Amino acid sequence: MSDGPVVLGIETSCDETGLGVVAGTELRANVLASQVDLHARFGGVVPEVAARAHVESVRHLAHRALAEAGVHQADLGGVAATQGPGLVGALVVGFTFAKSLAWALGKPFIGVNHMEGHLFAPLLGDPEFAPPAVVLLVSGGHSQVVHMRDWGDYEILGSTIDDAAGEALDKTARFLGLGYPGGPAIDRLASEGDPGAVDFPRALADRPYDFSFSGLKTSLMTFVRTNHEAGTLPPLADVAASLQEAIVDVLVAKTFNAVEATGVEIVGGGGGVMANSRLRRRLQEEANRRGVRLFVPPQELCTDNGAMIAVVGSHKLARGEITNLNADVDAGLKL
Ligand code: KG4
Ligand code: ZN
Repeated sequence: MSDGPVVLGIETSCDETGLGVVAGTELRANVLASQVDLHARFGGVVPEVAARAHVESVRHLAHRALAEAGVHQADLGGVAATQGPGLVGALVVGFTFAKSLAWALGKPFIGVNHMEGHLFAPLLGDPEFAPPAVVLLVSGGHSQVVHMRDWGDYEILGSTIDDAAGEALDKTARFLGLGYPGGPAIDRLASEGDPGAVDFPRALADRPYDFSFSGLKTSLMTFVRTNHEAGTLPPLADVAASLQEAIVDVLVAKTFNAVEATGVEIVGGGGGVMANSRLRRRLQEEANRRGVRLFVPPQELCTDNGAMIAVVGSHKLARGEITNLNADVDAGLKL
């Protein structure tokens, strides 16, 4: 579908203002205004600050995305935006901007589920990605193993019963004084550490597809406090590498439990945590071992971006699935 409709996609569900342009699955532009620095001093995303920052950057980024794509507004097939899940005030900015632009241009508007955006993101790296597939979705707010039976037909096989994988990384990184967001910091530090140094727990071994990460967070905190007092704390790089390994171990195991049970030959990945270098390597090794194909987006398209919203928008538009301009955002939108 690389010659599908040209769509501008707008993502404002959290702390990144992302705008992308695709033609079908072909990436034409992807621009981003990250708010990480704005929120870093608060140690997490402040909803009101996020919404205001989206207001400041969305229009100018739309111009930049179209200019980089070499696409004139009049040549757009449609405009897509994230409808949910996310922070309501942040969602409203991109969603309303997109509806207004579509209305002014007389073009179709497509509301997109943010998680479906992550599900489709592997297409931006390789257009051969297609269902039936098992996709591991791991972000700051979600950890899910999804059986993608067909485009638009998803069965959530497993999910986290407490914290998401990214949330666990962010919270532990904050505890370790590594700053926000924690995932990239732990990824970097872990590359210099020994993943076998500390044996952190791998939870929910008795449930094939579900995750639990809050016990891991508690376990790390107890470990650090106890060993710090006793003067026996190993180098922080070893702690980070061991924590990362505990998370990666369960993500890989449960993904391939689902691959085995469903018999699919295609595995996908999406969401910010999929940018993790160790997770990417371990998934690739396991896919090779089992003779299945792994599709993960390039690292910059794992984290939130507008291109993944545009690619879902283009796909839906090609099927005539457009959204009424009266539609509203839904902070709790389900896949
Ligand atoms: O998908 P995303 O950008 O936003 C949400 O929808 O939540 O995911 C953000 C999450 C954060 O928890 C961040 O720490 C994590 O993705 N993350 C990473 C890496 N890059 C971002 N986690 C591990 N390793 C990374 N390299
Ligand atoms: Zn996301």
